[in-house]
Amino acid sequence: MSESSELPTSTDVAQRVELRWAVFVSAVVLFLIVLILFTAVHWSTMPPSRVEVVDPSTLHRAGEFTEANLGTGIDDRNNVEVRVLAEQYAFRPHCLVVPQGIPVTFRATSSDVVHGFQIIGTNVNSMLVPGYVSTFVVSLDAAGESTIPCHEFCGVGHTSMWATIHVVPANEFRRLLTVHQRVSCD
Ligand code: CUA
Repeated sequence: MSESSELPTSTDVAQRVELRWAVFVSAVVLFLIVLILFTAVHWSTMPPSRVEVVDPSTLHRAGEFTEANLGTGIDDRNNVEVRVLAEQYAFRPHCLVVPQGIPVTFRATSSDVVHGFQIIGTNVNSMLVPGYVSTFVVSLDAAGESTIPCHEFCGVGHTSMWATIHVVPANEFRRLLTVHQRVSCD
């Protein structure tokens, strides 16, 4: 009788294991909450709840994705902004120019089917979905040239769908802006 009272009962074991997992799960939840607060406050990053819609049938005729409005420019808040249109089987513009080391806002969409947009050698990787504007901000620090393949299968011409991006020194970019309102290397 005295021996059995010294041994932990199955209830004791279960309670200890439950407590251990409760502490572990609470720590994970707490870590995620801290992570969300940190990215929200420090990086101004919100959970991806914001959805911006656009009518894919009128993209060519009106609005910010008409031919003259594509490429890199300065938006009304003085930020560098790139507008890209994806369609079977090309990106417009086909050759992008962005300044080196400056945050650049990409705004991109598709006029037909789902396309992919990935800048090789960076963490830029997005889907371009008809009806929605994909927005992301990135600062490209290495000057030079990179390839942007479409990485979502979009039809028979998928493998030949790609664009190029040139990261140029900021002063060179400013010089280009004095010549063109929207900059590209098409
Ligand atoms: Cu566009 Cu694959």
